[in-house]
Amino acid sequence: MNETVIRAADLRKVYRGRAAVDELNLNIGKGQIYGFLGPNGAGKTTTIRMLLGLIKPTSGSIDIFGQELQKHKLPILRRIGSLVESPSYYGHLSAVDNLEAIRRILDVPKSRIAEVLDIVSLTGEEKRPVKGFSLGMKQRLGIAAALLGSPELLILDEPTNGLDPSGIQEIRSLIKRLPSEQGITVLVSSHLLSEIEQMADTVGIINQGRMLYEDTIAHLQAQAAGDLRLSVSEPEAALVLAEAAAGGRVALREGRLILPRINDARVAILIRELVERGHDIYRVEERRQSLEEFFLQIVEGGAS
Ligand SMILES: Nc1ncnc2c1ncn2[C@@H]1O[C@H](COP(=O)(O)OP(=O)(O)OP(=O)(O)O)[C@@H](O)[C@H]1O
Ligand SMILES: [Mg+2]
Repeated sequence: MNETVIRAADLRKVYRGRAAVDELNLNIGKGQIYGFLGPNGAGKTTTIRMLLGLIKPTSGSIDIFGQELQKHKLPILRRIGSLVESPSYYGHLSAVDNLEAIRRILDVPKSRIAEVLDIVSLTGEEKRPVKGFSLGMKQRLGIAAALLGSPELLILDEPTNGLDPSGIQEIRSLIKRLPSEQGITVLVSSHLLSEIEQMADTVGIINQGRMLYEDTIAHLQAQAAGDLRLSVSEPEAALVLAEAAAGGRVALREGRLILPRINDARVAILIRELVERGHDIYRVEERRQSLEEFFLQIVEGGAS
């Protein structure tokens, strides 16, 4: 990983004797879209609120941009944009007027309003009262507000919650563009694996306050188990060869050989041997455990 943007170590938050976040370690590199994934009540919002300095950790440390959050709170927070829960806005005011109110507080140039409206594709709607906006448009306005201060880090807590599929799609494509087009690192939380899989490049899986898994999406996909299924003319005779190739553990089910996933070289050797011994090979299939199954296995299995 290149430059670290967020590093949280042994982070803990206890409410009334119960740990909402427990010895959590989290690492986010510059330019990443980090998907913070966990079921309801896992501790995502609590973690995010600690990262934004909104609540104080019971123990543990948070470094952002290489500095301790507790000691350099204001300069650090000035470089972060965030949307936690639904955005607040004045319904009777237009998008521009809502953004103008925030712009004054942040003291950024007026021209920035048109820029952020363009980034979130609200140009053309900016004069309408926000109370007439769809949920997706309101959410995009919230992201526009978070982008006003030209943050280097954007933290979004469940930004697609409650949106319909097209609204989800809009937010997702918006988030995916941010690192390359705006140079922004993104932390986005969700309770849906499919969401995270489609927008993030790195994933942290949290459950019951603990980080169970943190790696790239590509690694997660590779780790999801699966098997290799072979349909051959004489399965019983082929079983011995398949067991040699797989190092044991081959099942014979409905006339098909079921092998654990083995590497390409071993598959090639096995197929060559089968062909050389006169077997006809009808089908070679790989079945991947779905990520959803793998996710449930991680969450239900506790620590990995
Ligand atoms: N202020 C609080 N006081 C007491 N308990 C709290 C408080 N905030 C959160 N909790 C508890 O901490 C745990 C984690 O909650 P949190 O809101 O962080 O989860 P989450 O992952 O964001 O869930 P969701 O997907 O529902 O938003 C829950 O058991 C919750 O009840
Ligand atoms: Mg939450």
